[in-house]
Amino acid sequence: MQALAGKVALVTGAGSGIGRANSVLMAARGAAVIVNDLDAPAAEQTVALIRQAGGVARACIADVSDGASVAHAFALAQRSLGPVDVLVNNAGIPSGMPAFEEIDEAAIDRMFDVTVKGAMLCTRSVLPAMKARRSGKIVNTSSITAYGSHSRGSVYAAAKGAIISLTRAWAREFAQWNIHVNAVAPGRVRTPMTAGLSADPAYREEVRRRVPLGRRGEPEEIAAVVAFLASSDADYMTGQVLSPNGGEIM
Ligand SMILES: NC(=O)c1ccc[n+]([C@@H]2O[C@H](COP(=O)([O-])OP(=O)(O)OC[C@H]3O[C@@H](n4cnc5c(N)ncnc54)[C@H](O)[C@@H]3O)[C@@H](O)[C@H]2O)c1
Repeated sequence: MQALAGKVALVTGAGSGIGRANSVLMAARGAAVIVNDLDAPAAEQTVALIRQAGGVARACIADVSDGASVAHAFALAQRSLGPVDVLVNNAGIPSGMPAFEEIDEAAIDRMFDVTVKGAMLCTRSVLPAMKARRSGKIVNTSSITAYGSHSRGSVYAAAKGAIISLTRAWAREFAQWNIHVNAVAPGRVRTPMTAGLSADPAYREEVRRRVPLGRRGEPEEIAAVVAFLASSDADYMTGQVLSPNGGEIM
């Protein structure tokens, strides 16, 4: 299926986990993919995976929380592959689960800088070209934690809640230019971000107890939802949050 043929997709945090799976799937569906990450070797690995499968990709190294670096790297990448049709704001950092009073100020700043400000800066970088062409798809990455699914990790939850607010506000603001903005709010997904949890028997038991499907999701299962939101199959959707989560929240 070449649902994204002729499109240019930019995925942030694409050197690992869900971002890598998003990039690989969108390339398989015909998109040329700009692979952003601050970890250059990781981004290059994703690019290599896409090229090995016959797809088109190039790395774009930038910290999404650094406006000058985002503007420069995104401009360079678009000069080579063309203006971005699909932006996936996926870059994120793990929260750990400290008690709220133990979270230091620098960690709070970093969480909001990467998650919230990062999504704003990346969106701002691609928006003028989307407006000019009156077309675009933006897919933001929230989390079920935004809905209060966990008893710890409130800073992460708040940042992911802000992503839902941004999704809805942008959907209204950008609709006049035919720019669709939706979000994915994954449940528990088996990625490097959560790798440490796999070995913990208490965590495995919690997954069995709380997730009706009885297991964590795979990055490819989130990528399938993102690729749908990025495609013309979702042309009547904007301001929506889809939550692939095994039924943990309904
Ligand atoms: N894994 C889960 O269970 C889960 C659940 C819900 C939501 N999410 C969200 O999905 C997204 C991807 O998570 P993942 O599990 O694949 O994580 P991951 O750690 O495997 O990948 C995240 C990638 O983002 C990159 N990154 C981090 N900070 C960056 C920055 N400032 N600029 C550019 N790149 C940066 C990292 O280098 C890494 O390659 C995140 O937003 C995460 O919060 C994950």
